[in-house]
Amino acid sequence: MLALNRPGQVSIKTVGPFDLGRVARLHRSCFAEGWSRSDLAHLLATPGGFGLVARLFDRKLAGIDAMRGVGFAICRVMGTESELLSIGVSPAYRRRGIACSLLRVAMERCLLAGARAMFLEVATDNIAAQKLYEAHGFRRVGLRPDYYQHADGSRSNAYTMRCDLYVACGTAPVGGTR
Ligand SMILES: CC(C)(COP(=O)(O)OP(=O)(O)OC[C@H]1O[C@@H](n2cnc3c(N)ncnc32)[C@H](O)[C@@H]1OP(=O)(O)O)[C@@H](O)C(=O)NCCC(=O)NCCS
Repeated sequence: MLALNRPGQVSIKTVGPFDLGRVARLHRSCFAEGWSRSDLAHLLATPGGFGLVARLFDRKLAGIDAMRGVGFAICRVMGTESELLSIGVSPAYRRRGIACSLLRVAMERCLLAGARAMFLEVATDNIAAQKLYEAHGFRRVGLRPDYYQHADGSRSNAYTMRCDLYVACGTAPVGGTR
């Protein structure tokens, strides 16, 4: 766990089978092309795949929804490399540092699993996500033209970004999750 379940705390836990519906709903709230429960189950069952869900425990501000989950991250570790496949925070809970907490735990988890670098793709017009990644040590290493295909058939470009996990997390990762 990243944090104790005290009021006002964000708690990051590993996605389990009972979280799939919640994470699928969160994914739909963040992306036009949302992933289904079975998409998520498939990704999490691939070797090295894991997911994180962020929950809020502030009883004054957070309803039952927030306690079930307000954000997620889906990752995969492949030897010394890892990939951030998706990250998102429910629109009502953005700009509270939840994505920061998720990304930090995801990076530490990948480092603990043996990865030394993390890669991701981000739409070239997604400035919010690029700022989040840059703040965590990611740098652009490539451009993928027409990487994303949208429901209306249009396409958009993506940057590939890379982060050195040793440098970003230090050599002594802390804060495992359950
Ligand atoms: C990108 C996203 C995950 C950020 O989640 P969040 O919980 O609001 O992010 P945080 O509060 O942890 O913000 C961390 C930093 O990211 C940057 N950031 C986040 N949202 C931003 C915005 N709307 N505009 C500019 N910078 C932003 C800022 O640098 C911010 O730090 P600051 O608040 O100290 O300025 C969220 O906006 C989201 O779910 N977007 C839709 C899904 C998506 O685009 N995912 C990424 C796909 S590659």
